[in-house]
This record gives sequence, structure tokens and C-alpha cells, in this order.
Amino acid sequence: MRQHVNPLSRFHQLPRPLPPPADCFAQPDLPLHLDIGSARGRFLLELAALEPEINHLGVEIRRPLVEAAEAERQELGLTNLRFLFCNANVSLEGWMGQLPRGLLRRVSIQFPDPWFKTKHHKRRVLQPSLLRAIALALEEGGWLFLQSDVAAVIEPMVALCEASGCFRRPPGDALPWRADNPLPVPTERERYALTHGLPVLRVLYQRNGTAVPSPEALEAALRATDNPADTARG
Ligand SMILES: C[S@@+](CC[C@H](N)C(=O)[O-])C[C@H]1O[C@@H](n2cnc3c(N)ncnc32)[C@H](O)[C@@H]1O
Repeated sequence: MRQHVNPLSRFHQLPRPLPPPADCFAQPDLPLHLDIGSARGRFLLELAALEPEINHLGVEIRRPLVEAAEAERQELGLTNLRFLFCNANVSLEGWMGQLPRGLLRRVSIQFPDPWFKTKHHKRRVLQPSLLRAIALALEEGGWLFLQSDVAAVIEPMVALCEASGCFRRPPGDALPWRADNPLPVPTERERYALTHGLPVLRVLYQRNGTAVPSPEALEAALRATDNPADTARG
């Protein structure tokens, strides 16, 4: 199976309407955890069994992984879990905008594909528009949990969250990286990183009460982070 797919390809830019929670879960009113880039799904299969009081949705751009994860979910009879095939940057933003207020409680983006070359950074999953959609859908106190084993990948994600002004870190969290995982199950990549002595860089954000900036204001705040002299010049 291909390790990476290009999310900017014509095929993956096609919008795919995602079913609403009522069509995904036996009890659609339960709080919702969204895992973006759920891969083969082992993390959510284990977590959903441990947390029956929460609905879990995994979205993944590699369809064969989604099919395998869904088959296992059905075998296990987990009705608080669904895996959906989509490009998070194309299909998820509108879907989150339709969610009943307050339903989405946690979003995780764990070990996203790095796309190291500068010309490929646009393929990275946490783009400003997705971050805005997450911030709009999360109620105050809701979680955005990020992890990576590559500093050059997570640092821009952190810069984006900070530039938005929409998130705070829980009091007492170690800076710049949180020491432990607040979730009770490690992901596949996390297990690999830990056994191979790679760094595991984690940040837990909580949605604050600040209004979500416009796309233009967020871009301007990001540019100011790149070049602090802009802010100094006012
Ligand atoms: C490096 S893997 C990490 C998988 C898992 N989160 C873990 O920690 O083990 C990143 C996953 O994100 C998926 N992915 C990348 N871009 C995506 C996008 N735009 N929409 C949905 N999934 C995406 C990839 O196909 C891949 O399965």
C-alpha cells in the first residue's frame, strides 16, 4: 500500500459528503472525539472500547485503511466508533460546521505526515482553514491534542494555534512540550517512536473564549509570527 498520497491531487480534492453523527453512531448525542489521520484505526479501536460514553470518529485519506478499520470495528460491534474515508482539508470543514453546538469535545492530530520539502508544506494536514474550522466547532474547554516525532512538523502547527489566539494550554503543562499523553491509548506511530527512542513532542490545547479570527486576520497573525518586526512596526 502507498505510504503517502498527495492530498492536493485532483482525485483527493473532490468533496465527499460525510454522514451526520445520527448516521454514524448508535447514540449520536454523546460527546464526540475526532481523530484526523486515523490510519489503520488501531488507536481508536482500543480507545472507543475503553470510552463507551464518547463517540469516536476517525477520518483518513487512504481508503484501504478505512475499509480495514471499519471491518474490524463491525466485527467488534463498536457502535460508538466510525471510520470515514475523506481528505480532511476538503470534506471535514463543512461537516464540522453542521455539528450541533457543543457536540465536538476533542480533536486529535497525531504524527501527521511530515512532507519535509518546503514546496510540499501545502500538503500538510493542519492548514489555517482546518484550524479555523476546528476552533469554530469546539466549545470553550474542548481539546485539541497534537503530537509528532518531528520538531519541524509540530512547531508550525503550534505557531498556527498560537497565532489564532483561540487556544490556551492547561495550567501546569510543561513548556514547550507536554511530558505525558493525556489519552489512555498510544497511537501506532507513537508506539514506534517510543520503542525506537525518537522524540515524542506533544501539546494539549484547550479552546478559550476568544472569537475565531477571519482567514485574513489569521494569515496576518501568522506572517507576524514569521517576522516579529512586522508586529513591532505595528
Ligand atoms: C504518519 S500517519 C499517523 C497515523 C496515526 N495518527 C498514528 O499516529 O499512528 C498520518 C496519517 O494521516 C493520513 N492523512 C494525511 N493527510 C490526510 C488528509 N488530508 N486527510 C485525512 N487523512 C490524512 C495519512 O494517510 C496517514 O494515515
